[in-house]
Amino acid sequence: MNSKKEFWSSSKGFILAMAGSAIGLGNIWRFSYIMGKYGGAAFFLTYIGAIFFIGLPIMLCELTIGRAAQSGPLDAMTKLAPKITKLSKLLAVLLFLGAGCFVFAGMRTHAVLTALLGVGALIYGWGTLGFAATYLTPLMISVFYSVVGGWIIIYTVLSLKGGIFRQSVESSTELLNGLVLAQNGKAWIVIISALLFFLMTCGIVLAGIKKGIERFSNIFMPVIFILFLVIIARALTLPGAKEGLRFLFLPDFSKLTAEAVMAALGQAFFTLSLGSGVGIAYGAYLDRSVSLVKTAVTIVLMDTFASILAGLAIFPILFATGLDPQEGTSLVFKVLPLAFGKLPLSALWGFLFFFTLLLAALTSSISMLEGAVMGLMDKLSLSRAKAVAIIAVVLGSLVPVTALSAANYDNLPLLGNFLQGTLGLKSGSFFAILDNTTCLWLMPLTGLATILFVVFVWGRKNVLEEMCGCSEKDRVFAKVWFFVVAFITPLLVIAAFLKGLKIIF
Ligand code: ALA
Repeated sequence: MNSKKEFWSSSKGFILAMAGSAIGLGNIWRFSYIMGKYGGAAFFLTYIGAIFFIGLPIMLCELTIGRAAQSGPLDAMTKLAPKITKLSKLLAVLLFLGAGCFVFAGMRTHAVLTALLGVGALIYGWGTLGFAATYLTPLMISVFYSVVGGWIIIYTVLSLKGGIFRQSVESSTELLNGLVLAQNGKAWIVIISALLFFLMTCGIVLAGIKKGIERFSNIFMPVIFILFLVIIARALTLPGAKEGLRFLFLPDFSKLTAEAVMAALGQAFFTLSLGSGVGIAYGAYLDRSVSLVKTAVTIVLMDTFASILAGLAIFPILFATGLDPQEGTSLVFKVLPLAFGKLPLSALWGFLFFFTLLLAALTSSISMLEGAVMGLMDKLSLSRAKAVAIIAVVLGSLVPVTALSAANYDNLPLLGNFLQGTLGLKSGSFFAILDNTTCLWLMPLTGLATILFVVFVWGRKNVLEEMCGCSEKDRVFAKVWFFVVAFITPLLVIAAFLKGLKIIF
């Protein structure tokens, strides 16, 4: 195959690249605002449950498929099993039924997407799962991710001057609102920085896995952890920090709404980059001597540790400074400058932090493009450069649109009229459509379909053969894992879906 001339140079390199994909804006920016919105510890525990009973099992499915097929997500499933099976036809029927339910519930984006996936499943069978994990989910994520990446570039540059760390809460809010709303003369800055982030992503993907993705992750992942420890040390010594710890660790399950459970599920998928082809794409470059069990467990633990560190850094500061946990998408951008302002050498720490956050975001966003690049290289026999160029042009045109409608449609009233008026979509911004559709629907749906494929189509014998190449301990773990993936994970995903849709409980 065209795209697969390289391998990771070591299993450590692979783990850091996978951890780099997992650890990103999801752990810091998205995790903190979602957790703030849904009330803290009870949400946090649900999220941790979702990580270990849903996230880890699905990650292992993806890595196993990728390594066995030695192929990107587009073709991996159809290489391992027939394209159309009874189950793929049944899945198509279920998708049509699901689309009907969404029409009934007035959720039109979900309805249209689900119906299209149903048509795909009918015609292309398991190839549709590959398509969703290659082009649909990761590329949609890549677009809104670039917008947040752009805001981080702006904060990194502003950190150098240090002024943002001496601001009052009000002026820091004003600065951020200008960026999120892309108003007050900030529209061009927001567009250019989002495009810059996107082009940086394309540049690293262009360099390939060893020289680009692996080298980059190897250097910068350790730095991120060290910087977090510095911020936590300061956060925990602030007066009022205890309130933040209570928010994080003292659960009140009466506050756990159906929406929060669905959000915890979506966050688990987003943070581990599941259902977006990354595990399959990166697994395809993995040598057979590497233990999949050990690597997956290590990656998931690293990612969870990163989220806990982010929580420990952000919530004590948030409560100590009197900010509202329900700030929404802008939460970290308001909290962190205030934290750095309370440190000696604030400009230095602030710059280092935003710069590192930028790097963490890049190691994640490159993973969103790799599967699509592999797909184009294989299907159209293109060079890596041409495949990256095609993606750059297509997605590059969507990035400015998303940057201008990150909070509402005030900058793009025609788009707003079309999406809200003509199509009847409820989301308040194009950004929110991309975020909600991927995290709350496409990722869990793709994850569920991947499980069904592994358990009922590819089959226990083949899966365990691919996974059990290593130690006795791995073999035992793999058998337990298969049980969880066959009987527990799918039920949990379905229950979370139904609870999210308020059908049961
Ligand atoms: N997994 C990536 C993140 O958490 C997308 O940022």
